[in-house]
Amino acid sequence: MKALVLTGGKGTRLRPLTYTIPKHLIPVANKPILFYVIDQIREAGITDIGVIVSPDTASYIKEALGDGSAREVKTTYILQSEPLGLAHAVKTGQEFLGDSPFVLFLGDNLIQGGIKDFVAQFNSDGLILLKEVPDPRAFGVCELDTSGRVERLVEKPKVPRTNLAVVGAYIFTPDVHKVIAHLKPSGRGEYEITDAIQGLVDAGKDVRSYILKGWWLDTGKKEDLLEANRVILDESACWKVEGTVDSECSVVGRVEVGKGTSIENSVVRGPVSIAGGCRISNSFIGPFTSIGTGAVIEDSSVEFSVLLDNCRILKVPRLADCVIGRNSQVAGGRSLGGVALLLGDHSKVEL
Ligand code: G1P
Repeated sequence: MKALVLTGGKGTRLRPLTYTIPKHLIPVANKPILFYVIDQIREAGITDIGVIVSPDTASYIKEALGDGSAREVKTTYILQSEPLGLAHAVKTGQEFLGDSPFVLFLGDNLIQGGIKDFVAQFNSDGLILLKEVPDPRAFGVCELDTSGRVERLVEKPKVPRTNLAVVGAYIFTPDVHKVIAHLKPSGRGEYEITDAIQGLVDAGKDVRSYILKGWWLDTGKKEDLLEANRVILDESACWKVEGTVDSECSVVGRVEVGKGTSIENSVVRGPVSIAGGCRISNSFIGPFTSIGTGAVIEDSSVEFSVLLDNCRILKVPRLADCVIGRNSQVAGGRSLGGVALLLGDHSKVEL
């Protein structure tokens, strides 16, 4: 089996950050979202991965993932020159996929527990992953028959008929290519994968469903990113201090501190991930915070936030709920209430 990972998409809801970094490469718990996807594919036993890139994101994604060997997979890059939808992306990848069955995985979807069991269960003409959500209107919505077979799929319905949202991981046989060849664009001008799946069902194919019990996060917005950072730190952070912590510090809970980081006269309360090469002094780093490489944090308090590489936070009494791009500086000095920011790379904020 092969896999096709989609990394196009402009990440408009995360601008300005996504002007200089594709959303798939934004780190949560100090690991890019895309790497979780790649690792989960490998854990399901698939190593031959086609990566669909867009003209905007291609160079970033290639630089980050390379030939895949660092993650023990083999990557083939495929350029989708226009954002014409998920089914169009599959069509773009058809030559790479050949006559192999394949997993289609959206590179910004985080799935608890990965896709190993999902892949192991595949023995039909198609398998889709579903999740019960309170409000499925922003997703594909699925209706099943009593045996769990897919009957009907509607993309982003105003009035959903079930609460079963389509998660961004699917398994297809090469049959799907025949359906995609005849698809028409949807109302939003895209070739929808939901329409392709409906086409398979209408052609009498056996398309099954797998209902995900764990969490699922589609990381399109700042709140989703912070939530992903929270749940991943909550689940996987462990005590691993490789940097130096002086005797004036209180470092409690599950805290990761990378090599070359020094922490002085500060309180760090886990779960927290601090990468290497950072300098933290006279500060409070609160739960559910991830700090990228090379940060400088002085006389400040940061919690429930994601800071990308080389941020400088100086004299800011309370930062919370922030996503801050690389090489940004936030400097305070006056007395303030909480400040919640979404900052692109190279931002400068004086408070
Ligand atoms: C796409 C699919 C949708 C699915 C969602 C999952 O939506 O079209 O059916 O529920 O991914 O993330 P899009 O991200 O294109 O809005």
